[in-house]
Amino acid sequence: MYNLIRPLIFQFNPEQAHNIGVFLIKNGFFNFYRSEIDKKLAVKVADINFPSPLGLAAGFDKNAEMFHEFYKIAFGFVETGTVTPRPQDGNPKPRIFRLQEDMALINKLGFNNVGLDSFVSNIISNKPNESSQKIGANLGPNKDSENRIEDYIEGLKRVSSIVDYITINISSPNTPDLRDFENSNITELLGEISKNRLNSIPIFIKISPDIEDKRIGFIIESCVKHGLDGLIISNTSKERSFGLKSKNIDKDGGLSGNPILNKSNQKLSYAYGIAKDSLPLIGVGGISSGADAYKKIKLGASLVQIYTSLVYQGPSLVRKINDDLVDLMRIDGVKSLSEIVGTGKVSFK
Ligand SMILES: Cc1cc2nc3c(=O)[nH]c(=O)nc-3n(C[C@H](O)[C@H](O)[C@H](O)COP(=O)(O)O)c2cc1C
Repeated sequence: MYNLIRPLIFQFNPEQAHNIGVFLIKNGFFNFYRSEIDKKLAVKVADINFPSPLGLAAGFDKNAEMFHEFYKIAFGFVETGTVTPRPQDGNPKPRIFRLQEDMALINKLGFNNVGLDSFVSNIISNKPNESSQKIGANLGPNKDSENRIEDYIEGLKRVSSIVDYITINISSPNTPDLRDFENSNITELLGEISKNRLNSIPIFIKISPDIEDKRIGFIIESCVKHGLDGLIISNTSKERSFGLKSKNIDKDGGLSGNPILNKSNQKLSYAYGIAKDSLPLIGVGGISSGADAYKKIKLGASLVQIYTSLVYQGPSLVRKINDDLVDLMRIDGVKSLSEIVGTGKVSFK
């Protein structure tokens, strides 16, 4: 069905199309795509039992208004946000661009969101009483904040008791200088986070695919030292040298989708070589099939997430990836996906 309506939706600009999608999703569109998760896909990561390792990446449900609908289509978890303490409009429009020939997007949204007050009440009112599927909250600072670390801490305090995990987003390319946290500022940030933790809720750090390898090692060391629980690799890329074919390649912002798969995989694989069992990794960037997801797991991801491929392939992709993972497990004689995390040797171009 999505194949039929996609050309229609793509008549609209990407942000209008997103808003139409939101309207449809909030009004029961996913009832047509309901699917159950095979028990074989269950994994335990950072002490959380995920029914499937496949999650929705941050940025689709920025305001936590429809994560429960995504549970219907068999995501193991949904990462809501990025949310900032105060509501924020984000950058001027247009700020999302399709690169259709490349199955990619460029966005420079700049953390448009409703702010923590509405975000928290949305989570409380939308959270199903009983669900094995998990919710994460991705936190960021306001663009005009005088103290960005305090913004993260405020988010931490407000959501710690209502979600299953928290992500500290230090890698959006669309908030000026945010990625500075990937450099020297990381020590102070992680120190403050571990000091201000209210409970044992797992906290992940999300990094960019453009990060230098030597910084990855330092960040992993700092995460372990400060008792953080995972690293998400990766956010969108500022790089454009992927042989892109579409006309929108010159747009500012973060590139996502197929073109960043290899780069993001390289960073994941490099990180796994350092982290091994000391820090779980969450692989995101360019996944568009079960085979891509399986490969990320073999490269070291304990969990995986998707965003852009969902826009191009529609909601049935989630079931397809789950089904393909089960098939690949059967072919390889694997009982649990945890067995194969980091076992794959893959050579990169
Ligand atoms: C339109 C759009 C908005 C996004 N917003 C956020 C965000 O608010 N916070 C965040 O951490 N990542 C955000 N991302 C990045 C995704 O979570 C993901 O890391 C990235 O798109 C790579 O995955 P993909 O290739 O499967 O899309 C956004 C991505 C897109 C395409």
